[in-house]
Amino acid sequence: MFHSVERPNRELGKRILIAASLALAILQMAGRVQAQNGTPFASTQQPQAAPLSNAQLADPAIERRVDALLRQMTLEEKLGQLVQYSPDGYLGADAAAARDLPPQPGKNPITAHSVDALALIAEGRLGSMLNMVGAEATNAYQREAVEKSRLHIPLLFGADIIHGYRTIYPVPLGLAATFDPDMVSRVAQVAAKEAATGGVRWFYSPMVDVSRDPRWGRTIEGAGEDAYLGAAMARAYVRGYQGDDLAKPYAVAACVKHFAAYGAAEAGREYNTTDMSESRLMQDYLPPYKAAVQAGAATIMSAFNALNGVPSTADGFLIKDILRHGWGFNSFVVSDYTSIRELINHGIALDGTSAARKAFSAGVDVDMMSHLYDAELPALVKSGQIPMAAIDESVRRVLRVKFALGLFDHPYAQGSEVTRAVPEHRPIVRQAAEESLVLLLNQPFAGSSPVLPLTRGPQKIALIGPLADNANEMINGWGDPNRNPDAVTVKDALEARARQNGGSLIYAKGTEIAGTSESGFAKAIEAARQADVVVMALGESSEMSGEAGSRSRLDFPGNQEALLEQVAAQGKPVVLLVFSGRPLILNWAAEHISAIMEAWFPGTEAGSAIADVLYGDVPPSGKLPMSFPRALGQEPLYYNQFPTGRPTYDNNERFVSRYIDVPNDALFPFGYGLSYTTLDYSAVAVSRMRVPLDEARRNDGRVLVTATAMVKNTGSRAATEVVQCYVRNRGASLEQPVRSLQGFARVTLNPGESKRVAFNLGFAELSFFTNSGLAVVEPTHYTVWIGGSSQAAEHADFVIAAN
Ligand code: BGC
Repeated sequence: MFHSVERPNRELGKRILIAASLALAILQMAGRVQAQNGTPFASTQQPQAAPLSNAQLADPAIERRVDALLRQMTLEEKLGQLVQYSPDGYLGADAAAARDLPPQPGKNPITAHSVDALALIAEGRLGSMLNMVGAEATNAYQREAVEKSRLHIPLLFGADIIHGYRTIYPVPLGLAATFDPDMVSRVAQVAAKEAATGGVRWFYSPMVDVSRDPRWGRTIEGAGEDAYLGAAMARAYVRGYQGDDLAKPYAVAACVKHFAAYGAAEAGREYNTTDMSESRLMQDYLPPYKAAVQAGAATIMSAFNALNGVPSTADGFLIKDILRHGWGFNSFVVSDYTSIRELINHGIALDGTSAARKAFSAGVDVDMMSHLYDAELPALVKSGQIPMAAIDESVRRVLRVKFALGLFDHPYAQGSEVTRAVPEHRPIVRQAAEESLVLLLNQPFAGSSPVLPLTRGPQKIALIGPLADNANEMINGWGDPNRNPDAVTVKDALEARARQNGGSLIYAKGTEIAGTSESGFAKAIEAARQADVVVMALGESSEMSGEAGSRSRLDFPGNQEALLEQVAAQGKPVVLLVFSGRPLILNWAAEHISAIMEAWFPGTEAGSAIADVLYGDVPPSGKLPMSFPRALGQEPLYYNQFPTGRPTYDNNERFVSRYIDVPNDALFPFGYGLSYTTLDYSAVAVSRMRVPLDEARRNDGRVLVTATAMVKNTGSRAATEVVQCYVRNRGASLEQPVRSLQGFARVTLNPGESKRVAFNLGFAELSFFTNSGLAVVEPTHYTVWIGGSSQAAEHADFVIAAN
């Protein structure tokens, strides 16, 4: 156990641990400690204090302004900066969570569960607001703060801008499939530019929770199952939102969420508990948060879930020890929506007072919607349970962000307001959508060449399915329905293409997303009979994933699979487009359908991007950020599992680690995705076979080994391939995953072209975490694979050797 809610001895314990590892490191350097199992060969650099995560927030000019302001603030005004409400602050359904609280008359500003935000703002008692967008609304509330409140402190407006503001790009899981962080930064910047015109300067994004279980609905909001890919995506969003200077008019402060390990919710059930070893936490779940923080993320949100028995919103180990002390995070932490109040439901707080005390003491600076900091902190400060200096520090953190964003100088919505998709932004979101599409299968039909790309000659296409003409679903759930008319549906785009080629398109919806009626089947079957090729658009609705969208099944909802089977029985080549916020089980389709493409939810340019790839104008290049299982019972299924003592070599052997009714592996594994050409990997090599342990332990950013491979386009069409580098470490004191991604690169290859691709591996890529949270290397054996998926076969080996 490494947790306790309030850990008076945690700091002491940590200091002892650090001192011990320092001493060990010194002894090791002096050559007096032999390598043996259990010895932490910690980096010699490890115990240094982390540099501040965001230099701009440590600017002395900002600090002077913060000091001057703080000196004038009353306790009420200070606490105002630490609370966040929507316009009426109404708890809604969450009021149920508050029912158990004894009434606290006179404690909350208006009533226990709602507020008059305008009145609070005018009194200087509200610092930030959530999910209110648009210049008119934000400016009206801002005027109240800037013109009426005593100290004229501007409000900060935060919103869930998850994958675009008005011009919508693919959902984050789809963006992760691009393996293209530069692209992610570019579209994130587009979102920031657009939202700033609506007064929003703070995004509750990126969501960087690693998710290895697709039952969890919020899988759609993150980068999938892998920490390395997740970290690359996390950095990319922060770069895109914040740029190099928060004060620029179109920069937006990122809010990394949800800290921490929310994606490990047991059984994939929303808000459920998580429990894991410290090494797993450090190695598999925390890297994306850390990457975002080190990229300068301006804020972070605490999570709903408990981790090892401690709700994240009351977890000083996470927030103080790891985030602030370990990573140098120097800004504010906001709770998730009512997560402070929920400490009562978690059973670690008996009432609002102890909930507020525990959350604040753990390091949560801002209370989102719990109605507790404003109600409870005054008495806690007066009784000395919360020191005034701690309140001041939290207020400083909030004010620094407001100053850094330039809100004191430019408090209102920027420029002319964007209310619809922006034509100039369409090309980049279209490119992002194209790159997010993952070709899972592309078989020849009736002995000829593969079904895709579609031929450009006159063809009769039957387009079938409930997602085929559905603008709403293309832009997915986190949005404003007013944007829907801007989205290009599959039908819009394919109809235009088919006509351009002298062909035609027949459309039949077939069924509803969760339909049970087969009344539309006959028309769909008839359309298929008349067609040369069938394109089916099946999948989930946006409501079936996202927050509170956990599912216990991973199949096509309703009777869509029955529709697929009946259409396929007509004997025409079928291309199946899958729209989903998570991996689905596609066994039947994989056996009976010629081509399958995972489309996620592609955004405003959905149809155009899909048509571009189906017709081969753009080659498919997406790779899976999550494993697609064969059966629900395999979940959680992820490629970088630990080995067992009884690995499976043969599916007929009994006493090995396997199921008796389904193979262990994924139907479509992590990193997998086809192109319209064939690619060959060869000559995987490492720059040296032996790395001295002393050198490896230095952790000074040096390259220890460079791994290289040749990749050749052996087919007849150009391709963009995501070349992936995986590493395995054997012989360490803790068992290590069977392989882990430690590098990737997007490479474009013309037919016949070869390229050499190199990956630099240093301490970050080769080390692992002990159960005391230390990153170490040991004298062990490494295998490096380079290839086009997590099943890459070409490899090379080297060792880190004791001196
Ligand atoms: C979600 C967060 C979101 C917040 C504000 C919560 O319910 O968990 O991801 O940012 O609401 O809308």
